Amino acid sequence: MVHQVPAGCLRPRQHTRNGDIEDVLRRIAVALARQSWLRKLVISTPGVRDLAWRFVAGEDLDAGIVTLRRLASRGVGATLNHVGTHVHDAGQARAATDDLIVAIERIRAEGLAASVSVKLTQIGLDIDGDLCRSEFRRVLDAAAANDVFVWTDMEESPYVASTLAIFDEMRAAYGRDRVGIVLQAYLRHRPGDLEGEIAAGSRIRIVKGGYWEAPEVVHRVQAEIDQAFNHDVRVLLEGGHQPAIATHDPVVIGAVRRIVRERAIELGSFEFQMLYGVRADLQDQLVRDGFQVRAYVPYGGDWFFYFLGCIRQLPGGFVRRVKARFAARRRRPA
Ligand code: FDA
Repeated sequence: MVHQVPAGCLRPRQHTRNGDIEDVLRRIAVALARQSWLRKLVISTPGVRDLAWRFVAGEDLDAGIVTLRRLASRGVGATLNHVGTHVHDAGQARAATDDLIVAIERIRAEGLAASVSVKLTQIGLDIDGDLCRSEFRRVLDAAAANDVFVWTDMEESPYVASTLAIFDEMRAAYGRDRVGIVLQAYLRHRPGDLEGEIAAGSRIRIVKGGYWEAPEVVHRVQAEIDQAFNHDVRVLLEGGHQPAIATHDPVVIGAVRRIVRERAIELGSFEFQMLYGVRADLQDQLVRDGFQVRAYVPYGGDWFFYFLGCIRQLPGGFVRRVKARFAARRRRPA
């Protein structure tokens, strides 16, 4: 498996307090992607692991299932994700599919109302479109047999068109209540993706977009991203089929609350989605207020790059607390 740099969610923000921290983390990500010995050292460090388990369920499926149960006890639904992207070997793609199928069967066996999320580059998109299609069909056959919903995550911009094309085929074959798609609001060039998918009846998870991309490809000014995202959220609330609004942004969430009140939209007709470990307080509040909330729960041995993306997003206060914690560890007598 190849570690993309930055893998996943190191989106640049021009107007945050964390710009310098993000830059440092990006440099760390580059260094770690290049040096496997350094990566092994870092991921076996107890302090790093303690912090990681705030955002990642753990290294295996059992840990993922425990987290799903805990979330269910709080009234929060879940989407399980076996972390990993960009495999360049057909055997690894098939192994990733097998892991997903085991996870789907386990969700059913445990009686959990959870969905799963899959990245198509994890099941062969970089190798061959047909391999990816046949692996995705294996996933969806298992999902259909076990009545589990599958979200198709959206990756870097070069994969958007092929991901949409494969998703459209799968939705046509398996139905809109079996497989859904993620759309990214930050993309500048979106030839009718939102309107097209709404017209096709697809279930859409709308996100701001999480990858480091060139300014010609994505909006990089936060206000522009937010504007595009707000637009899509409104369109989906009005015309989407069971859409998912995936954000931790309290301003957007406040706007959704207002729209829902003003237009008497049923709370069961959409859901909020957030990342596991991020704004659990907000998740609980929304559940108390009667909204459907689902957390995205990553697990698996390849957790480190996902985790790096999460910590760079944290407010400065958290980073200060982490520094203090490491300092306290250093001061503690051996
Ligand atoms: P914004 O970036 O404005 O963040 C609002 C606040 O939330 C921040 O100030 C920060 O404090 C907190 N926050 C946000 N993200 C955090 C994090 N990771 N860790 C800690 N704090 C965080 N992207 C993509 O390109 N393809 C995909 O398939 C998905 N899938 C997906 C699923 C789900 C369930 C979620 C919630 C998100 C994604 N994303 C994604 C990521 C998405 O594109 C986006 O990068 C993040 O959700 C952050 O954007 P917000 O909307 O939260 O707003």
